[in-house]
Amino acid sequence: MKMEIAILILALAAVASVFVPTLMTGASPLPTSRPVREAMLGLLPDNMVGPIYELGSGWGGLARALARRYPGTPVRGFEVSLLPWAWSRLRLMGGGPPNVAFALANFHGADLSDAALVVCYLPGPAMEKLRPKLEAELPNGALVLSNTFALTGWRAVEERTVPDIHRSKVYLYRKGE
Ligand SMILES: C[S@@+](CC[C@H](N)C(=O)[O-])C[C@H]1O[C@@H](n2cnc3c(N)ncnc32)[C@H](O)[C@@H]1O
Repeated sequence: MKMEIAILILALAAVASVFVPTLMTGASPLPTSRPVREAMLGLLPDNMVGPIYELGSGWGGLARALARRYPGTPVRGFEVSLLPWAWSRLRLMGGGPPNVAFALANFHGADLSDAALVVCYLPGPAMEKLRPKLEAELPNGALVLSNTFALTGWRAVEERTVPDIHRSKVYLYRKGE
């Protein structure tokens, strides 16, 4: 009986660790699908000079793909939701790319001033809240790659519609353009 109660408490804590951050940020840890990920990577240049930050890295799949694409570039994911973050860390122990790291942290506290690329898949209100931080901190020329949600007031340098059932959009921006 004690064992069943312990398992129930653990299960409830796991659900709460995803549910509470979702309520707080308005973003569930829904991962970028494989076709959208391919489209996003397809918009990026061959070389990346400077760190890549994923704002809300979820379960870590996109950050790992970015780290494999740019093996000489540090990739750092920020995630507030405990369970997806813990999964990202566990996957690294199983032999993930050495140039990726995940922080259990709110990205609004991160310093983005050396970013070469910022990647996000955040709903409209979260993008709107993020916009002044990108405008204040990103160096000129830094790239912003977004799944589905556009950055209002910014002009995309590239935009693609993915041939999936949602006709998902991906956007690439360059600070200063
Ligand atoms: C839709 S998911 C995308 C996950 C991943 N980027 C991907 O594309 O597969 C958005 C993630 O952002 C996280 N998130 C939202 N606001 C955040 C914040 N201020 N700081 C850190 N993580 C945040 C959520 O917890 C959620 O896991």
